[in-house]
Amino acid sequence: MSEKDGFPHFMLKEIFEQPQALKDAVVSRVSLAEAEIRIANEIRISSEELRALRRINIVASGTSRHAGMAGQYMFQDLLHLFADVDYASEYEYRNPPIGPEEITIVITQSGETSDTLAAQRLARRKGSRTIAVTNVMKSTVAKEADGVLYTHAGPEISIASTKAFTAQMAVLFLLSTYLGQVRGNLSREALRGWIEELLALPEKADTVLRCADQCRRLADQFRGFEDFLFLGRAVHFPIAMDGALKLKEVSYVHAEGYPAGETKHGPNALIDENLPVVIIATCDQNDPGSVTRYKKSVSDVLGFKKQSARVIALATEGDTEISEIADHTIFIPRAPELLAPILEIIPLQLFAYHVATRKGLDVDRPRNLVKSVQE
Ligand code: AGP
Repeated sequence: MSEKDGFPHFMLKEIFEQPQALKDAVVSRVSLAEAEIRIANEIRISSEELRALRRINIVASGTSRHAGMAGQYMFQDLLHLFADVDYASEYEYRNPPIGPEEITIVITQSGETSDTLAAQRLARRKGSRTIAVTNVMKSTVAKEADGVLYTHAGPEISIASTKAFTAQMAVLFLLSTYLGQVRGNLSREALRGWIEELLALPEKADTVLRCADQCRRLADQFRGFEDFLFLGRAVHFPIAMDGALKLKEVSYVHAEGYPAGETKHGPNALIDENLPVVIIATCDQNDPGSVTRYKKSVSDVLGFKKQSARVIALATEGDTEISEIADHTIFIPRAPELLAPILEIIPLQLFAYHVATRKGLDVDRPRNLVKSVQE
């Protein structure tokens, strides 16, 4: 109990540690006064090489891969650089060619996942430089990488990855802004703005955690359902994927994460009063793309309601449109489109946790799963 600091489970403790984990991942790596991202000594790849980059390959498993998917949007949006994401377990079968001006980023909380390690070794054999994003000091992946960005989230005991995930996304954002700094994609002014937003994240995560009671009440209401659909567009799609994965792994409830725009291409046939829909419909008013996507999500929710679906929406605070049509709305503080995912996953983690505890399940050690798959 003492290791859990009074929390009934490590998962809940680790969810609540996210504001601190985000601080530890970010604060020492940025200078607001100089408008500078300071991770050159961790990357250990020359600026010349980084300027020449034409493509980024990202390889990971499970939740770490979802962080990589979010990273893909960050790299492509901020750097206009092509970024590809692979399942580590599929990487060698796809046997992708790697060009000279490419790097491979491997993301793994434990640093020991065998598929991720095998993918890293394959990428190295093909001549790629690798950067490891990991939580465990001196793990095998860290030792074998050219550069290492530790997530500094602290030990993650619960099998369900929570704080490591949000720290991974923060670190990937740091890496994309660092590359923007080196490659000249981001002006000092833009960098300063991004650093301010990064530094504001821990407090915003604290604010999101105040929805814990609401998530518990929702879990009470929805604990009887056997299937869920999680939807999101663009950088929010990986969050839908991870929200579904969390529910699956800790509460043994079937949940699917889907890109919202794909619903009409099949899953819509399933949507009725027996399939609750969780939709991420946050909006960054300063980003025209985000506003367009938000409008599409509003129209999706109207359609789901016509089909009698129960809809839980994640929306940006101050939004009144979505809360009028969704059955339940969880509000997230305002954040730029690329950083909002770090906040959005928190209520979904809490929801999965509470559904699992309502069912009396062993939340920290779900059946048939291990913390790090090493075989
Ligand atoms: C997430 O909640 C999982 N338990 C699992 O998907 C995990 O993220 C995956 O096994 C990868 O582990 P790693 O980050 O240690 O490589």
